[in-house]
Amino acid sequence: MNIILLGPPGAGKGTQAQRLEKTYKIVQISTGDMLRARKKAGDALGQELSSIMAAGNLVPDVLIIRMLAERIEQPDAANGFILDGFPRTVPQAEALDAMLVSKDLKLAAVIELKVDEEELVQRIAGRYSCAKCGSGYHDLYQKPEKTGVCDKCGATEFIRREDDKPEAVRNRLKVYHDQTAPILPYYTAKGLLQTVDGMAPIDDVSHAIESLLKKVA
Ligand code: AP5
Repeated sequence: MNIILLGPPGAGKGTQAQRLEKTYKIVQISTGDMLRARKKAGDALGQELSSIMAAGNLVPDVLIIRMLAERIEQPDAANGFILDGFPRTVPQAEALDAMLVSKDLKLAAVIELKVDEEELVQRIAGRYSCAKCGSGYHDLYQKPEKTGVCDKCGATEFIRREDDKPEAVRNRLKVYHDQTAPILPYYTAKGLLQTVDGMAPIDDVSHAIESLLKKVA
C-alpha cells in the first residue's frame, strides 16, 4: 500500500507516519528527515540545504525529485510506503505520478491532515525529538513515558529543529499556502484526496486514518 500524508508544518504527518509504519509494515519516507540527514555531511550541498531549510523555504524540485526516486528504489520500500513531506509542489506531484507509472505502482490514498493555524504554531513550538533515533515528542501533547528518556531507544539526548523558530515557521506556513496547497485540487481531480480532522487527539487521528484506509486498501 502506498500513501501520501499531506498537511501544513506541524499538522502531524510525521507522528501519524511513524504509527502507520508499524501498523501496516510499510516504510515512512520523510523528505524532511532525508534532507536533515544529508545536511549533516557539511559539504557545499549540505551548507546550501542548511540555509534554505533554516529559512523555511523549499529545496529545488530537481534535487528532491532525484532523492525521492532513489529512495523508493530501496528494498525496504517494496512492501509500500508512506510519503511524509512529498510532494510539496505540482511539479513534484507530476514527477511522482511518472515514477509510479514506470514501476506499475498505485496510490491507495492521499490523506490531508487539516489543522488550524494557531494550533500549528503551538505544536511546533513544543516539538522535540530523540537525538539518536528521531522519535518525535511534544512538551504538552506527547511526552515520553519516563521524563528525559526516549520510549523507543532509551537515549537521553533530545533536539529541537532550527526551522521551528518563529520567523522560519511563519515562512513555512506561507510557503505551504503558496506552493503546496495547490496540489490538493490535483489529487481531488484524481479522486484520491481524503481529509481527516488533524485537530483531534493523536489516537483519534490514527483511528480516522485507519478506518479510511480500510475502505480504500
Ligand atoms: P519537513 O520535515 O517535511 O517539515 P514540515 O512539512 O514543515 O512538517 P513538520 O515536520 O514540521 O510537521 P509534521 O506535520 O510532520 O508534524 P509532527 O508530526 O512533527 O520539512 C522541513 C523542510 O525540509 C522544509 O521546510 C523544506 O525546506 C525541506 N523539504 C522537505 N521536503 C521537501 C520537498 N518535498 N520539497 C522541497 N523541500 C522540502 O507534529 C508536530 C508536533 O505536534 C509534534 O510535537 C507532535 O507530537 C504534535 N502532534 C502531532 N499530532 C498531534 C495531535 N493530533 N494533537 C496534538 N499534538 C499533535
